Amino acid sequence: MAVYTTIEDMRRVYKRRVPKMFYDYCESGSWTEQTFTENKTDFQKIHLRQRVAVNMANRSTRSEMIGQDVAMPVALAPVGLTGMQHADGEIAAARAAGKFGVPFTLSTMSICSIEDVAEHTEKPFWFQLYVMKDWDFVARILQRAKDAKCSALVLTLDLQLMGQRHKDIKNGLSAPPKLTPAVIADLATKWRWGMGMLGTKRRFFGNIVGHAKGVTDAAALGAWTAEQFDLELDWAKIERLRDMWGGKLILKGINDPEDAVMASKIGADAITVSNHGGRQLDGAMSSIRMLPSIMDAVGDDIEVHLDSGIRTGQDVLKALALGAKGTMIGRAFVYGLGAGGEAGVSKALEILHAELDKTMALCGERDVKALGRHNLIVPQGFEDPTVSI
Ligand code: GLV
Repeated sequence: MAVYTTIEDMRRVYKRRVPKMFYDYCESGSWTEQTFTENKTDFQKIHLRQRVAVNMANRSTRSEMIGQDVAMPVALAPVGLTGMQHADGEIAAARAAGKFGVPFTLSTMSICSIEDVAEHTEKPFWFQLYVMKDWDFVARILQRAKDAKCSALVLTLDLQLMGQRHKDIKNGLSAPPKLTPAVIADLATKWRWGMGMLGTKRRFFGNIVGHAKGVTDAAALGAWTAEQFDLELDWAKIERLRDMWGGKLILKGINDPEDAVMASKIGADAITVSNHGGRQLDGAMSSIRMLPSIMDAVGDDIEVHLDSGIRTGQDVLKALALGAKGTMIGRAFVYGLGAGGEAGVSKALEILHAELDKTMALCGERDVKALGRHNLIVPQGFEDPTVSI
């Protein structure tokens, strides 16, 4: 394996190894990419307090997310098309997460199906649902996730229609890719990826094709989403889904205090403060800047996780110190997957863990659960999303 010291190193190798269409799918935000960019730059506005002469031996990053033990509070987020970033990508990523001791979340829009991932992994995983118009399909997929012993349902609330990512349209994003001359020219330089894909049968949306009525070919993601997703999703339907599922429920895509309060009122186990990695509402605030006002609104009423913009262990630390109990990473593990399959995801987790652990020590902390505002220097006005900083 190449020498990787950062997640950014992995992104560069990933870009060389994976077809442009799938790299662009991962590495885009919607429209002007303002939110996609600010998710990352807002983390950099927070500084850490350097403390010395405190015992830093015997540190621990162990914690819990929704009552489940985690080796560090970092779960793998649901990422559509993961099995197009690397052959059998969902299985590879779930295995790496399981070995590391962090949760893996399987997307509705995965290539490997729920059953397939369950069969080829040992640890229970979380299942992410997009609510479709076809409630028979929704009921069936929830039952499939229960049968596969998924230990939480992650309900995504911020993508009932897709924010436009210009490159996906220009590239003609599809799974598997349509072999246009431009795609063939690109694939010629991505032989490692191609060999992997030739060696697997998993090349379609495994949870959908053959399960949703009338969907026999789920090639065009955008068109298919526009046709199937329930635009009328509301809190009453979310309560109905909560009851249909009956297990641990995480509501993902909350980026406003009022919605966080609603999520807590309906009795979800956790929320993920998220703007979908800047892929949906362009112009939305970064999730790290929304976190303080969301924490103020919900207090201890509901567990809070955060995603969008995390690329380093220092970012994880900042989210935890601002009150999140856990975090999720999407792109950070996909870079590892594209660069090196299962071993690449393991490496990405090791990098984040080492950064979190050593940074914690240099902040004078030994226990990830003891992190708090006292570890941070936060610019004035950061908590108030109406102030420009
Ligand atoms: C799906 O979750 C996407 O952001 O493309």
